[in-house]
Amino acid sequence: MEFLMQKICMVKDLGVHGNLFGGNMLSWLDEAAGTMAADICRTPNMVTLKISEVIFRKAVKSGFLLKIYGDVESIGNTSITLHVDARKYNVISQEETVVCSTKMTFVRIDESGEAVPIPQMVKEKYHDKLRK
Ligand SMILES: CC(C)(COP(=O)(O)OP(=O)(O)OC[C@H]1O[C@@H](n2cnc3c(N)ncnc32)[C@H](O)[C@@H]1OP(=O)(O)O)[C@@H](O)C(=O)NCCC(=O)NCCS
Repeated sequence: MEFLMQKICMVKDLGVHGNLFGGNMLSWLDEAAGTMAADICRTPNMVTLKISEVIFRKAVKSGFLLKIYGDVESIGNTSITLHVDARKYNVISQEETVVCSTKMTFVRIDESGEAVPIPQMVKEKYHDKLRK
């Protein structure tokens, strides 16, 4: 998977149970994956269509370092679906543990907000890669 972004969980990011608030995690995943989708599709005009089942596997506490990774799952005509992981990172052992994962679909849009095709060269590049 490709490294996308890292975050440190601060006290301001916690929810009422002392764990990272889930909405903050979703925001970070959306930002990281949305950036990846825009980069791959060579356009800033990508919107989030769908966030699939989100699994919060492990609690994230204040002071934890998180690394977010993404991978292309599929590319359609106007949409791209990415698999995204957030992993807690131990700077001493360099061990990474998945704390949250999901799949997210982004759609390329035009100026009026309508879905438009992802460039053919991008599709060809990834169709070849995904076939391997
Ligand atoms: C994204 C949006 C433009 C799509 O409009 P639409 O009329 O549904 O467009 P389409 O029917 O042509 O579908 C677009 C793509 O989404 C896919 N799609 C539609 N519903 C889907 C679903 N439930 N699950 C997965 N993919 C879906 C279609 O298969 C198509 O992909 P493809 O061309 O690769 O096959 C529209 O839904 C929208 O503006 N949503 C709001 C986006 C937003 O504000 N996001 C939050 C902030 S970024």
